[in-house]
Amino acid sequence: MTSPRKNVPVAELIDLSGRGAIVTGGASGIGLAICHRFAEAGAGVFIVDAEGEKARQACRELEENGYEADRYCADVSREAEVRDMVDTAVTKLGSIDILVNCAGIYPRISLEKMTGDDFERVVAVNLTGTFLCGREVSQRMVAVGRGGSILNIASIDAVHPSGKGCRLMTPPKVAWCPSPEAWRWNWGGMTSGLTLSPREQF
Ligand SMILES: NC(=O)c1ccc[n+]([C@@H]2O[C@H](COP(=O)([O-])OP(=O)(O)OC[C@H]3O[C@@H](n4cnc5c(N)ncnc54)[C@H](O)[C@@H]3O)[C@@H](O)[C@H]2O)c1
Repeated sequence: MTSPRKNVPVAELIDLSGRGAIVTGGASGIGLAICHRFAEAGAGVFIVDAEGEKARQACRELEENGYEADRYCADVSREAEVRDMVDTAVTKLGSIDILVNCAGIYPRISLEKMTGDDFERVVAVNLTGTFLCGREVSQRMVAVGRGGSILNIASIDAVHPSGKGCRLMTPPKVAWCPSPEAWRWNWGGMTSGLTLSPREQF
């Protein structure tokens, strides 16, 4: 049986016009798909990615489709870059209503071969990056006082480890503890399954 909603455009399901959304890791894969859906729903999209050229291409793709988008090259694990990124996003978007922490790395390295540096880099991007972006954005949201949504893209492997997930993936993101004022802990939106992404790291 087919769902009657299967092909309903996003814009008919949700109106995000006037809202500003930061998507980290927005230049590729899941993050880029989220940027497109947000833009279709009317949001101003701010793509943040460590790979500047990819972010530029993603931004141009959105603009060619008639959407409003900006980009910023930053490494989410670096505190000063995150602070500057959020300041710029406020200027460009007017307000930040949504943050999606989607930047993440999942190197294909088995535990016995993993170095301390490999491990620390995953923690720095997946955990520290999520914390830094969440903190900077939640400060702005609390100051403005009209709420907002922060979504952390993690992995089903964080709660139900598979053979692949046991290597080293996104569990650090789920280990991060949100503050009650700015965060809504919503497991209702959880889905499982692999998403094919350009890096094909699985
Ligand atoms: N693809 C899947 O099936 C799957 C499964 C479980 C979890 N995830 C998680 O979903 C998220 C997105 O995955 P994807 O498959 O779309 O990956 P992807 O590699 O296609 O996209 C990740 C993006 O994050 C950017 N990035 C990496 N490090 C960064 C940093 N330090 N600062 C800023 N940007 C950085 C990359 O340049 C890239 O554009 C990741 O957090 C990943 O762990 C994906």
